[in-house]
Amino acid sequence: MTSRIDWVRGNCRLLRAIAEEFAATQPFRGQTIGTGIHLEPKTVALLLTLKEGGARVVSTGNLNSTQPEAVEYLRANGVDVVGDRTTDEREHDRHLRGVLGTQPHLILDNGGDLFARYLENPYERLLGGTEETTSGRMRLSKLRSELARPILVVNDSPIKQFAENRHAVGQSVLESFLRITNRATNGRNVLVFGYGSVGKGIAASFRNAFATVAVVEPDPVLRLEASLDGFQVPDRATGLRSADIVVTATGAERVLTEADIELLKDRVILMNAGHFPAEIAADRIVADPRVARRNDGPEGITTLVMTDGREIHLLAGGHMVNLGGPRPLGNSIESMDLGFALQARCLEAVARGRAGHEDVLVPVPSSINAMVAEAFLELYR
Ligand SMILES: NC(=O)c1ccc[n+]([C@@H]2O[C@H](COP(=O)([O-])OP(=O)(O)OC[C@H]3O[C@@H](n4cnc5c(N)ncnc54)[C@H](O)[C@@H]3O)[C@@H](O)[C@H]2O)c1
Repeated sequence: MTSRIDWVRGNCRLLRAIAEEFAATQPFRGQTIGTGIHLEPKTVALLLTLKEGGARVVSTGNLNSTQPEAVEYLRANGVDVVGDRTTDEREHDRHLRGVLGTQPHLILDNGGDLFARYLENPYERLLGGTEETTSGRMRLSKLRSELARPILVVNDSPIKQFAENRHAVGQSVLESFLRITNRATNGRNVLVFGYGSVGKGIAASFRNAFATVAVVEPDPVLRLEASLDGFQVPDRATGLRSADIVVTATGAERVLTEADIELLKDRVILMNAGHFPAEIAADRIVADPRVARRNDGPEGITTLVMTDGREIHLLAGGHMVNLGGPRPLGNSIESMDLGFALQARCLEAVARGRAGHEDVLVPVPSSINAMVAEAFLELYR
């Protein structure tokens, strides 16, 4: 039987082609790559591609997201995995330090966890590496002069912005809503908070699923864009009063709070697509005295029964909905193949000395964006 990891690897056409090339060109021969990124099927495809390029790969996951099957698969295929899944921050810290203990020549970071700890105990042979996220770039930018090595930021690539943040998150949030609730979207009023890349994709995906979509966005220019894209742009109170489904996608905190309870429609479904679970102030809503009863389940659904009889449903406890509920799949294989092809090419550029010491926390070079775009158009014809 083919496992999900084999299915993912088999469908990552870009990474497969890069792995074949790396097997011949060996860009990482004699080098160690240390990684601190989610360990799940798509990262398995990336890490094994790097290994094909001659690297010793030493990896640990992020807090709480490590999948045991991914760890087992990686270990069976020669990747050194430090630790297993943990929700304990101190244990996670030990795992990260375990990766740095091997003094990797290259670091693949997610959120700045490895680079920040590297500075506590620096060593000479670090060439540089990559950072996956904007939050990592922001965290590390204060340390720019100390880092003084090329670090290419993958999220700051237009390809990542439109392929993953817009198209893939929109699709996976819709897929998660359908999978967790088994409810229809047709004719339902959906209210999306935020009209950045993520909000745009979510609004479009729900409209394509025959919902009536409205957008709440403080920036008037983006509000105008949403309006010209054909979405309603009501004030938030009006939008909330008629919404059957509410999705937050802002990156901000407390976008929805207990102060909104009065406005919510009976049987409303609330979910969050933003990075932090604080967009919907779930704890405060649950603790509100107007909540008479809380029912947990089926998996991924919390129902609050209010003293006036209304029901409010919260998906995935307010955590990123596309990584929650039963059997979460995350974003599409194609979008992650693109993002991870950027990762592999950026690490290759640093290993080959094609990025300079002045390139600390810079976006993916346009030559790499062009190369990955051409390869995708060719390989996914
Ligand atoms: N779920 C996923 O798989 C996934 C993937 C990528 C990014 N993200 C996350 O999604 C979030 C949004 O990302 P983005 O790239 O669209 O960000 P962005 O900054 O481009 O857009 C966010 C928008 O939200 C608006 N906003 C801020 N506060 C608001 C409020 N209180 N009410 C309504 N709108 C408000 C901002 O004006 C902005 O236009 C981030 O937290 C990001 O980390 C999630």
